[in-house]
Amino acid sequence: MEYRGYDSAGVAIITEDGELVTRKRAGKLAVLVDNLAADELQNGSTGIGHTRWATHGGPTDGNAHPHLSRDGKLAVIHNGIIENFSELKAELVAKGYTFESETDTEVAAKLLGDEYAAGDGLAAALARVVVRLEGAFTLLALHRDEPGVVVGARRNSPLVIGLGDGENFLGSDVAAFVEHTQRAVAIGQDQIVTITPISVLVTDFFGTVVPTSEFHVSWDAKAAEKGGWSSFMAKEISEQPEAVANTLRTRIVDGAVVLPDLGDLAAHLGEVDRIIIIACGTASYAGMLGKYAIEKWARIPVEVQLSHEFRYSDPIITPTTLVVSISQSGETMDTLMAVKYAIEAGAKTLSICNTQGATIARESDAVIYTHAGPEVAVASTKAFVAQIAALYLFGLYLAQVRETLMPAEVRGALKELSAIPAKLEKVLKTSTRIRDLAKWMSDSRAVLFLGRHVGYPVALEGALKLKELAYIHAEGFAAGELKHGPIALIEPGQPVFVVVPSPRDPNSLHAKVVSNIQEIRARGARILAVAEQGDAAVLPFADEVIPIPLAGALFEPLLAVVPLQIFAMELATAKGLDVDQPRNLAKSVTVE
Ligand code: F6R
Repeated sequence: MEYRGYDSAGVAIITEDGELVTRKRAGKLAVLVDNLAADELQNGSTGIGHTRWATHGGPTDGNAHPHLSRDGKLAVIHNGIIENFSELKAELVAKGYTFESETDTEVAAKLLGDEYAAGDGLAAALARVVVRLEGAFTLLALHRDEPGVVVGARRNSPLVIGLGDGENFLGSDVAAFVEHTQRAVAIGQDQIVTITPISVLVTDFFGTVVPTSEFHVSWDAKAAEKGGWSSFMAKEISEQPEAVANTLRTRIVDGAVVLPDLGDLAAHLGEVDRIIIIACGTASYAGMLGKYAIEKWARIPVEVQLSHEFRYSDPIITPTTLVVSISQSGETMDTLMAVKYAIEAGAKTLSICNTQGATIARESDAVIYTHAGPEVAVASTKAFVAQIAALYLFGLYLAQVRETLMPAEVRGALKELSAIPAKLEKVLKTSTRIRDLAKWMSDSRAVLFLGRHVGYPVALEGALKLKELAYIHAEGFAAGELKHGPIALIEPGQPVFVVVPSPRDPNSLHAKVVSNIQEIRARGARILAVAEQGDAAVLPFADEVIPIPLAGALFEPLLAVVPLQIFAMELATAKGLDVDQPRNLAKSVTVE
């Protein structure tokens, strides 16, 4: 679970002697692991553990979870933010409580300890606590006097049960327990769960038992292992052909798109007159590509908004608006809140998600899962190409439903899409040259990325990858915008990646991008062009050409992004940085 946060970690265990023992350490999980190896805790069969991404209070041993009740008999771990923690803390301080950490979590632990004193058990005490909490939380707790019991509660933050044989699990994600069991049950909003080795009970916050449904995790623990690669990111970049192929598999039949995933939503698609795509970061760049494709193929206006901006922009939503969210994790709080907002405003909602049973998928009217497999490296790679593939499938499906494309045109586009995995294999073979380039450029202070039309989101993604992995200032620009200001940044030797459209591009953008290259080259820029194989017009003006196979205009981004991912990874590696866990980040951003 370390991908969710890696600035500190801790565990609490009820030992065979009935004691509650905890161990917590600042730093990556390895620090705690080493500490436990050097000084083992006594055995126990009930425990909780946590990896933290700091919100309230810096990453110190003391702020790491678990946090304890006043008598030290009860331990709590928490994801999310308890927004009214100051008020609750003041109340506890007035009662004579003292605090050892700066966290909001410790408030929940003290409050739970206070309620436990009523004597009706952990689950009942937790129920009284959660109704007082505002914000987002997943809480897990155990108590020395109830060995063999772990209770959990969730609101807006994920929690999944793993059903074992004589053992049960709780995790923020199935990855926590998939090595032990592939049988899982997702817990709904505002629910409380009590597990023992042999039982699972889920209720609402008021104690009423709620029905649950089990699902099978479609991947096993091996899929989430590094398997000989130098990093998860290297492995995941190499898995991109498979990620696209698996996302397309079973969804293309006889040259047409079939999406049973849409369920009841399918019946409403004919009346949709506007689509709003919401997402954050890399997923939002996939969304931008989705806009080009859907507008071109299905002729429906599409706008792309960052989830956290969407909610506060007083968006115009009608019953014929479809809000499409894109999220690898399916748990990004900004996107989840935006989806909830859209539902309340009366929109239909579709999610494009990579994680089975994730909250955003469950909240939406329908979900198209990307089958990229677990993405462990913090920087998104294979999920991005899978998201584009899913959006393109959806765009072509809409075109079929609305008859904006002839069946032969749909068939042609699907043929292009189906050819992408094999072409991705070819792009991956250029990685050695890119590694050399990255090593050579490892002391760059700033790198710019340019693209037009579908090349623009690719430029944005290339820049984001470099920022987050190599901590280098990087900016992506629409190539046409450069002369409106950013060209002032160009000085002799400035590296600029240019995503060059195909010379066969029907919009004739190729010539314009080549002109843009000349403009910046005249001012001393060092040009690194990602261009179609055999593009002779670029050669005289580029210092380096990274060739990609021929593909239709809309499909080039799926190929052009790969050299940029590899470049960022290799440059970060050359700088000695941890590419899987860049500083200050977490894979799943479950706070707003
Ligand atoms: C960048 C990256 C982030 C995520 C963003 C959304 O490499 O990984 O920008 O794309 O935080 O995450 P999801 O897709 O999980 O909603």
